Amino acid sequence: MSFRAIRVTRAADRGAPNRVALVDLPDLADPPAPGDALVEVEYSSLNFKDALALTGRPGIVRVDELTAGIDLVGVVRASASDGWQPGDRVVVNGFGLGETEPGGLAERTRIDGSWGIRVPARMTSRQAAAIGTAGYTASLCVDRLAQAGLGDGAEVVVTGAAGGVGTIALLLGRAAGWRMTAVTGRPERADGLRALGAADILDRAELSSPGKPLQSARWDGAIDAVGGDILANVLAQTRPGGTVTACGNAADARLSTTVMPFILRGVTLAGINSVEPPHAVRSAAWERLDRDLDLDALDAVTEEIALTDAIEAASRFFDGGVAGRLVVDVRR
Ligand SMILES: NC(=O)c1ccc[n+]([C@@H]2O[C@H](COP(=O)([O-])OP(=O)(O)OC[C@H]3O[C@@H](n4cnc5c(N)ncnc54)[C@H](OP(=O)(O)O)[C@@H]3O)[C@@H](O)[C@H]2O)c1
Repeated sequence: MSFRAIRVTRAADRGAPNRVALVDLPDLADPPAPGDALVEVEYSSLNFKDALALTGRPGIVRVDELTAGIDLVGVVRASASDGWQPGDRVVVNGFGLGETEPGGLAERTRIDGSWGIRVPARMTSRQAAAIGTAGYTASLCVDRLAQAGLGDGAEVVVTGAAGGVGTIALLLGRAAGWRMTAVTGRPERADGLRALGAADILDRAELSSPGKPLQSARWDGAIDAVGGDILANVLAQTRPGGTVTACGNAADARLSTTVMPFILRGVTLAGINSVEPPHAVRSAAWERLDRDLDLDALDAVTEEIALTDAIEAASRFFDGGVAGRLVVDVRR
């Protein structure tokens, strides 16, 4: 028996693009090794990282050959892991999936049982995949801001708002009672962003150039998915005692700022890493999603594609062709 998977083969010349192809792989050993589970994958999703990997960019896949996909949702087929039984629905985000461990863009895979989170009962597998790494990271950011004390009516700015992290951050921020401002380069998405909970829309061009070290203070908190000058300006506009969560680099991995927001306004810059947080932090983020996420609104920003279309769809991330979340039905 074989199963289909999207494989990335690293180029021998590290500057050259990697090879990416949908291939058939031989079936996996059953029973699994102690601690592992075999999973029939139902859905994966495409995140920014997946888009980089599937378009052959170096840097995401860090072994010579690997199945792509940083997320998976599926059903346990066989388990040698405490806590997982055949038939259980499991979601895995991060833990090196699609980077150093076999990823979710495959019909079948092996996981370390400790990586899995139970799919919340109120969610379909498709919805759990639509949340994916992007949505779970948004939840980590919202948790971090809530811990910083942001309450009802707090002014929060979300950058990269029409993307995966941004859309789910808006939905969770609305549920937390915050007044959200969406920063976007796609003004044509303004109505959609308002429907997700944005009270105001800010053109990203207003934040894209280097600005003064301290600017008029407007935000109690921020969720930044883009980095670069936009993040520097957000820091400079954050109120005394405010917290800025930084989770992405969709615009720029560099950050050129001054210490002024930190030493004169006591602003906190909080880094968010979704790949390896402690289990309790990961579980809390999924509990928030289970409790607060408006699943009808999530469905409205979810587009579904087949595994056979995933490689081609990846390039859409770089020309503004994805709004919200792309889920991949790996059985098609
Ligand atoms: N730290 C972690 O563990 C973690 C986890 C998940 C994601 N991330 C990172 O978070 C970022 C967003 O991920 P995603 O999956 O949400 O990606 P995405 O769906 O592609 O969203 C990124 C958004 O950023 C904005 N953007 C793109 N290019 C830009 C540019 N040149 N200047 C300013 N804004 C730009 C766009 O929003 P608008 O069209 O609204 O302007 C775009 O929709 C990525 O860098 C990703 O690697 C990190």
